[in-house]
Amino acid sequence: MTEVPFVDLAAAHAEVERQVRAGFDRVMAKGAFVQGPDVAGFEREYAHFSGAAHCVGLGNGTDALELALRALFHERGAQERGGGDGPDVVLPANTFIATAEAVVRAGARPVLVDVDPDDLLIDQDLAAAATGPSTGAIIPVHLYGRLAHMDRLLRLGPPVLEDAAQSQGAVRDGQGLAGAIAATSFYPGKNLGAYGDAGAVITGSDELARTVRLMRDHGSERKYHHEIVGFNSRLDTLQAVVLRAKLRRLDGWNEQRRVAAARYAELLAGIPGLVPPSAAGGEHVWHLYVIRVPRRDEVAERLGEMGVRVGIHYPVPVHLQPAFRHLGHGPGDFPVAEAAAGQILSLPMFPQITEEQQQKVADALWKILG
Ligand SMILES: Cc1ncc(COP(=O)(O)O)c(C=O)c1O
Repeated sequence: MTEVPFVDLAAAHAEVERQVRAGFDRVMAKGAFVQGPDVAGFEREYAHFSGAAHCVGLGNGTDALELALRALFHERGAQERGGGDGPDVVLPANTFIATAEAVVRAGARPVLVDVDPDDLLIDQDLAAAATGPSTGAIIPVHLYGRLAHMDRLLRLGPPVLEDAAQSQGAVRDGQGLAGAIAATSFYPGKNLGAYGDAGAVITGSDELARTVRLMRDHGSERKYHHEIVGFNSRLDTLQAVVLRAKLRRLDGWNEQRRVAAARYAELLAGIPGLVPPSAAGGEHVWHLYVIRVPRRDEVAERLGEMGVRVGIHYPVPVHLQPAFRHLGHGPGDFPVAEAAAGQILSLPMFPQITEEQQQKVADALWKILG
């Protein structure tokens, strides 16, 4: 039985292998493993791709969120005091745990809000209601490859930090990233994935970019001179080589994902009980193709038995995670996120997925639910 993988990183590697190997050889010949022209080149190219003035390469996406928040607080003179007595940060309950972790790590207090039942992204009205004088930032999370509605968030006052880990290249109403700063992750399975951990912040602000640059390298712009207490979270040079090679293909790969999403929409139409992802949302980049089904765990198990690899993003919302027990929430606090967590199922999705593979996924779902 040939399985349908959830993602196929080897297929992506095959397309860039020649450039990546040549780039690795170049770096190794020089022995220049930290920073250097490939990091600067990638930052320039990704800033351009994002339509922003600055990209600062970092060690991973979680650090990117934390450093972006710290830079925002630094700018406002509200430097974290530690112990969680910093500003409040509004974020959705339906996200990967890193979004909430970064808030705590930056010394701030997560203020969770429920999500929109249609797209499962932050509910703007609830975010507005949760925003007040103690709010230091708002973090919409562009989950699954779709930009969250931002128009109202941008008018609320506090700076908006976009969690763009899953939305590389996405656009809504002709607009890409629109907040004060955005953080992204180049974890291997992302639309733009490295061969290990990597991340970046993107911003139009010279000041925020400078602060993040300082923070990623021990608070230093000049060797052995340290302006602030920083971190070591530089983008690895070999990862920059991979990212440069892949970035040239990203628009094409995102288009292939759109074609695959349209094909799923046709193949899955009419399956009893199956709710496909909502169609609205501009230029979605389909990092994940998330359907909702009844008896989700049973469906996932049967798909596995039939050779279809699936994922769940994410099975437990932030407020029900033991790590965030201290926020004092319980079941029922964010009903939309909680209901979704029990129904969502991510189907195999990657640029090189074939019609035959998608047909196999659809046939299996028809067999289980039809
Ligand atoms: C929505 C979201 N935020 C943050 C992150 C954290 O990124 P990283 O794994 O690179 O630390 C990820 C990816 O893992 C993510 O999907």
